[in-house]
Amino acid sequence: MNTLRVLFVCLGNICRSPTAQGVFEQRIEKHGLSSFVAADSAGTSGWHIGKKPDARTISAALGRGYRLEHLRARQIDMTDFESFDFILVMDNDNLREMEALKPAKCRASLRLLLDYAKKSDVSNVPDPYYGGHDGFELVLDLIEEACDEFIGVIQHQLSRND
Ligand code: 4NP
Repeated sequence: MNTLRVLFVCLGNICRSPTAQGVFEQRIEKHGLSSFVAADSAGTSGWHIGKKPDARTISAALGRGYRLEHLRARQIDMTDFESFDFILVMDNDNLREMEALKPAKCRASLRLLLDYAKKSDVSNVPDPYYGGHDGFELVLDLIEEACDEFIGVIQHQLSRND
């Protein structure tokens, strides 16, 4: 079976998308899906290339048991549209950026992550960078909910490919 590849995208790749990668990877592991699913994250900007996630992001995530300090920021690459099955974007601004870059030949399903958070009526994971600690907790709340729902969707997809 081919590995299902999932890319999380935000602006800087130091707050929201590395959080999503860490939350998702921990759940994939817990569900015994690590051999079938792989995750990565990237930013639409190149502002923080090579940097660790923001210290506030690392600390808020650690408070819920997610380790993010090994991650390093990178910028989206045109090959990502072909090499990933899902590109899940944190907000509408970055989705618009991605839609503008999207080549005619694109394998990935390009969507907002919160399309998979049906219980909440929020569509954007708010950028926490210029705010306080609560913003980082909200990022985790929204991402955890969406990852749970998204994993249900891919479990269904993987079971059909058996
Ligand atoms: P992210 O947050 O897109 O969730 O990684 C941000 C990180 C850095 C900046 C903005 C948002 N910045 O302006 O440097």
